Amino acid sequence: MEEGDKIEKGRVCVTGGTGFFASWLIKRLLEDGFSVNATIRSNEEHKYFTELSGASERLTIFEADLDKPDSFDAAIQGCTGVFHVAYPIAIEYAEKHGLDFVSIIPTWIHGPFVCPFLPGSVSASMAMIIGHQDEYSFKYLWRTPFVHTDDLARAHIFLFESPEAKGRYICNAVEITIDKLAECLSATYPEYPIPTTAE
Ligand SMILES: NC(=O)c1ccc[n+]([C@@H]2O[C@H](COP(=O)([O-])OP(=O)(O)OC[C@H]3O[C@@H](n4cnc5c(N)ncnc54)[C@H](OP(=O)(O)O)[C@@H]3O)[C@@H](O)[C@H]2O)c1
Repeated sequence: MEEGDKIEKGRVCVTGGTGFFASWLIKRLLEDGFSVNATIRSNEEHKYFTELSGASERLTIFEADLDKPDSFDAAIQGCTGVFHVAYPIAIEYAEKHGLDFVSIIPTWIHGPFVCPFLPGSVSASMAMIIGHQDEYSFKYLWRTPFVHTDDLARAHIFLFESPEAKGRYICNAVEITIDKLAECLSATYPEYPIPTTAE
């Protein structure tokens, strides 16, 4: 679809925009036709945002820090919804303040990313390739529920667009053991010497 063919879906705010998941959510929202106000904590390098499809027309960056709640006012102004990714909000707070609130609890997030750093959860799942034995130990990956980055982004948008959505949702795809992960990585990357059992 060409940029001119996009169906305008209104403006939303995403907090913690520089993060692993939030930056992917921003990409998905822009691709779906939303205008996005993204908050970042400081005026750091955020070139990767401006390179996202639709960003030059529909993405605005705001500086805001949760330590200064008022700093979010400008970013939220005029938005039909807020994806508050930077920090979890307790349901009790939303109820007390009359917010139309839906909570999504993701399991371990894996998959593509647009942020300029290797996210911790992706690093752990790729540790058998990278050779970081401490990360693929039983501690993290003995039996772990996984969700794909883009499935999680789509789940956020789906619930945002569902008026009947209410309360708390868990977003998960599969539960995988370290042996299964090794098997999957070996099949996908046969060129790497991947252990077949947890050591
Ligand atoms: N990754 C996973 O597998 C996973 C699994 C379950 C739940 N979660 C939850 O999902 C959310 C996003 O995860 P993620 O992996 O994308 O995290 P992340 O990459 O660490 O991103 C967190 C974002 O929140 C921002 N932030 C932190 N403190 C802030 C503050 N005081 N004011 C404003 N912004 C602040 C960070 O800004 P800076 O860049 O300035 O630090 C960053 O942009 C987190 O709440 C995390 O606990 C993640």
